[in-house]
Amino acid sequence: MLALAALPGLSVVLLLLQGISVNASPAPDEITTIGTTRYACKCYRGDRCWPSSNSWAILNYTVNGNLRAVVPDPAVCYNTFNGRRTYNAEACAEVTRKWTDQNWQSDRQVSAHWILWTNTTCLPTENPDDSCTLGNLPEYVIMAKRAEHIKAGVDFARRNNLRLIIRNTGHDFLGRSTGFGSLAINTHALKDVRFVDRYRGPGSWTGGAVTVGAGIQGRELLTLAHEQNPPRVFVGGECPSVGFAGGYIQGGGHGPLASLYGMAADQALSFDVVTADGRYVTANSAVNSDLFWALKGGGPSTFAAVVSVTVKTFVDAPAAGASLYVNFTHTVDQELIWKGFRAFHNLANHYIDNNMFAYYEAFPFIFRVRPFVAPQSNATRLAEILKPLYDQLQAEGVPYDSEIKEYSSYYDLYIDLFEDEVSGANTLVGGRLFTRRDIAEHGDEIAAAKRSIVQNGMIGHIVGPGVNLPVSDTAINPVWRNGSSFTITLYEQPFGTSWEEKMAGEKYLTDIVDGPLRAASPYGAAYVNEGNLAEPNWQTAYWGDNYPRLLELKQKWDPLGVFYARTTPGTENWEMLDEGKKLCKRV
Ligand SMILES: Cc1cc2nc3c(=O)[nH]c(=O)nc-3n(C[C@H](O)[C@H](O)[C@H](O)COP(=O)(O)OP(=O)(O)OC[C@H]3O[C@@H](n4cnc5c(N)ncnc54)[C@H](O)[C@@H]3O)c2cc1C
Ligand SMILES: *[C@@H]1O[C@H](CO)[C@@H](O)[C@H](O)[C@H]1NC(C)=O
Ligand SMILES: *[C@@H]1O[C@H](CO)[C@@H](O)[C@H](O)[C@H]1NC(C)=O
Ligand SMILES: *[C@@H]1O[C@H](CO)[C@@H](O)[C@H](O)[C@H]1NC(C)=O
Ligand SMILES: *[C@@H]1O[C@H](CO)[C@@H](O)[C@H](O)[C@H]1NC(C)=O
Ligand SMILES: *[C@@H]1O[C@H](CO)[C@@H](O)[C@H](O)[C@H]1NC(C)=O
Repeated sequence: MLALAALPGLSVVLLLLQGISVNASPAPDEITTIGTTRYACKCYRGDRCWPSSNSWAILNYTVNGNLRAVVPDPAVCYNTFNGRRTYNAEACAEVTRKWTDQNWQSDRQVSAHWILWTNTTCLPTENPDDSCTLGNLPEYVIMAKRAEHIKAGVDFARRNNLRLIIRNTGHDFLGRSTGFGSLAINTHALKDVRFVDRYRGPGSWTGGAVTVGAGIQGRELLTLAHEQNPPRVFVGGECPSVGFAGGYIQGGGHGPLASLYGMAADQALSFDVVTADGRYVTANSAVNSDLFWALKGGGPSTFAAVVSVTVKTFVDAPAAGASLYVNFTHTVDQELIWKGFRAFHNLANHYIDNNMFAYYEAFPFIFRVRPFVAPQSNATRLAEILKPLYDQLQAEGVPYDSEIKEYSSYYDLYIDLFEDEVSGANTLVGGRLFTRRDIAEHGDEIAAAKRSIVQNGMIGHIVGPGVNLPVSDTAINPVWRNGSSFTITLYEQPFGTSWEEKMAGEKYLTDIVDGPLRAASPYGAAYVNEGNLAEPNWQTAYWGDNYPRLLELKQKWDPLGVFYARTTPGTENWEMLDEGKKLCKRV
């Protein structure tokens, strides 16, 4: 036990900024004291409570040999990792080539697409003499092949007080699928999919449904749905490789069909999960309905480990799509480019009224909407909807390029217009949800706020999962029902920053990047999957009036904090101490 009682009055933050480390070896119930604050920490390698190699071997046996000691993928570019020779020129060339490929990254054991969260201590290199360390990657990973393996991991982490990470595709913008010193459960192999034409479970839905394993990914599922007779669709993300049943649906899940049908979590009919106390539980409107509600948008890795989820499907229909470009090939006049952006964005409510979705990107001298999605529509109708936009661009003299296309199915549109994205950025991520009222009353200010931060780049979605839709009882922030436009902000970080610099980066993101967007949208909110870890008043920003109930349900379903993801319900008393190396609870 370590007591830094000789330093009363100093805040923990100050201690951390000064780089004082907490090297105690607490057994599960031992307490670390910093200043006057007492902490119970998770158990880490080197602590007395860390499981013996025999315990790990037993765990490995329980999971049928699917436990792996983590070796970072780029270790093959270094002479050694952990004292073992790892260099392999051919393998290194492959890792280097595929490093930014999201599909490849998704298939890895533990790697994180947003490398900032790994602490970038083992990147592909041409200098094998450099050092490669785990950084914030987990110590061990269970490559789960079935529900029993997930349960074994949850039980082992709970009994040994280990930090537990659930890792599906590693897409998480906020690094919630990696964590220093942890045991990870990789759910990527759980890809069972079963479609039914008529759902017979509890509740009033009698249309089509699909039950999907925890590891299924967006485009993969859409392709299977397309192979049904008749072809089916569901609410999934815009990104082809993002997972479906993991962080995506548990955080809410928006996407190209969300303005037509609602959020992904609104479509959930039933979840099969492993609870924090290691039970297999079904959660739907008839059994464990409180857990069902919480899983529908209450936060990733918070209430249970999802094994599978059943969601509504719909019969696919023709669709129309469009693109719009205003960039340096058309003009280098920033003013004109931003007039174009403002014209586009101020019409958000209009697109939403027509059940549309749009995905756009803005960087200095580059603005593109690719695509506009008009489900259950056609090119003639989409041209009508976009006419006010074109009229305004012309009236303001904004040069642009735009194309409207018609598709015989949403599937065809998706395959044609949504591109694979890249991973590997060393970037902090924030974001803001704008409501209809924000757009109507403060549209110009919002556009100006976006312009003021465009040097960092941003990704945006026109999405309105509430208009013309029945009210759905989920944990998703009710503000989403008034939503009209959602923006992801980016803030690129230098490599190898100190802890102080990391904290300063978070503060800059919060105040300087997200600040203007927040100020311009008094009725807005934030989105847990694509938001800022340091979001002020995150409980309200992410969940609004639903937060108090979520907090109660976290206490009911995971009182020990077996599951942890920063800035999710019930994590108020948890802190990352020792520069992110110890997850501890104030007691
Ligand atoms: C390129 C890109 C595009 C995106 N597009 C969209 C979009 O269109 N719409 C949208 O809403 N979001 C989108 N997102 C955000 C996405 O929803 C989140 O990143 C989400 O967390 C990814 O979930 P995952 O399971 O694939 O990823 P992971 O990083 O593997 O996991 C994310 C979180 O979920 C937890 N988790 C994973 N599996 C389980 C499980 N079985 N049980 C419990 N917890 C679990 C993890 O512990 C972690 O906290 C996008 C992200 C990226 C990087
Ligand atoms: C788990 O067992 C498998 C199969 O015997 C073995 O290949 C693997 O190295 C073991 N994992 C650990 C962490 O020892
Ligand atoms: C993370 O990186 C910083 C800066 O290089 C370093 O000081 C710190 O020890 C690293 N932490 C881990 C866990 O790798
Ligand atoms: C296009 O859609 C509109 C509105 O739904 C409809 O009235 C029209 O008949 C459609 N046109 C064609 C050519 O299908
Ligand atoms: C600029 O717009 C053109 C279409 O006119 C497009 O083909 C090109 O990819 C755009 N450039 C960028 C960098 O977005
Ligand atoms: C949604 O908008 C309406 C109309 O502006 C408002 O009355 C309501 O309070 C809003 N709901 C939320 C949750 O913000």
